[in-house]
Amino acid sequence: MCGQWHSADGLGRKSRRPPLALLVLSVALPVRTGTIFPVVDESNLSEAVAALKRAVRVVVSSGAGMSKESGIPTFRDALEGLWARYDPAELATPEAFQRNPDLVWAWYIERSEKLCTVQPHAGHYAIAELEGLIPEVVVLTQNVDGLHVRAGSRDVVELHGNLERFKCSADCRGRPTVIDLSTISYSKDHAPPCPYCGARVRPDVVWFGELLPPEAVERAFEEARRCQVMLVVGTSGAVQPAASLPVEARRAGAVVIEVNPAPSFITPTAHIFLQGTAGTVLPRLVAALRAEQEESP
Ligand code: APR
Repeated sequence: MCGQWHSADGLGRKSRRPPLALLVLSVALPVRTGTIFPVVDESNLSEAVAALKRAVRVVVSSGAGMSKESGIPTFRDALEGLWARYDPAELATPEAFQRNPDLVWAWYIERSEKLCTVQPHAGHYAIAELEGLIPEVVVLTQNVDGLHVRAGSRDVVELHGNLERFKCSADCRGRPTVIDLSTISYSKDHAPPCPYCGARVRPDVVWFGELLPPEAVERAFEEARRCQVMLVVGTSGAVQPAASLPVEARRAGAVVIEVNPAPSFITPTAHIFLQGTAGTVLPRLVAALRAEQEESP
């Protein structure tokens, strides 16, 4: 698969795809690149608004904290995070699925079904509203909950897949061989067989040690290099390759704005740190941008 990447544009030009190590989902803490300034005040908000006002291309890069106020737990919060209560090695690796497919299936089906009971919050809607204020907005998300799309964001790149989509674990009819669960019979506690080849059906999410969808990761790095502002929301920055996106954006000259209630591994890379939750900071930020644009277009 990697071979085809050397000339992705078909013109013999060398692709700028990230190196292989950055295509696999892995916990790898990025190098700290600066000083932490976890102070948020009105001047930070004004600086962020000014950067957004100047921008033509904005990338929003979101993680689990983005959806917390919708009632979806994060992964690494000390008490409530999913990985504080469950072992990722037992639930989120291909080996775990091979060992105990029914356990993994039951866990994901439960999380998938929960999505029917949650809604996007004001922060998701604020991001969707950005599209009316800035010429080009792309959302790169590690989240598998589909809430950005449900809130109205139109250009969403799902780096880690989607919890509402399922596929054949052997991808017997090409990558991915999507299986519509409404067309097969299954129970919550037994991973059903693929209707084409009999291999187990699994969620179409990226597990640790797996490659991210190549087009998604390529687009993400390309957008990171092209944007003037990257707004990073609700990620610890502990997981690659998404953790490298702000570094890439900053290196290419973008202003990096982080929204998070607590400093993260992204914070040293951020130019502006807006301390607070997605549901409170983002609506304020977008309202301030709208007001500023109305005042002096
Ligand atoms: N608003 C914004 N950020 C929040 C909020 C909130 N309401 N609540 C918590 N946060 C922040 C936390 O401070 C933390 O920095 O969200 C971040 C959540 O970090 P993680 O749980 O590590 O989630 P994430 O970075 O998205 O994890 C990446 O790890 O297990 C894998 O594939 C899984 O996509 C996931 C990846």
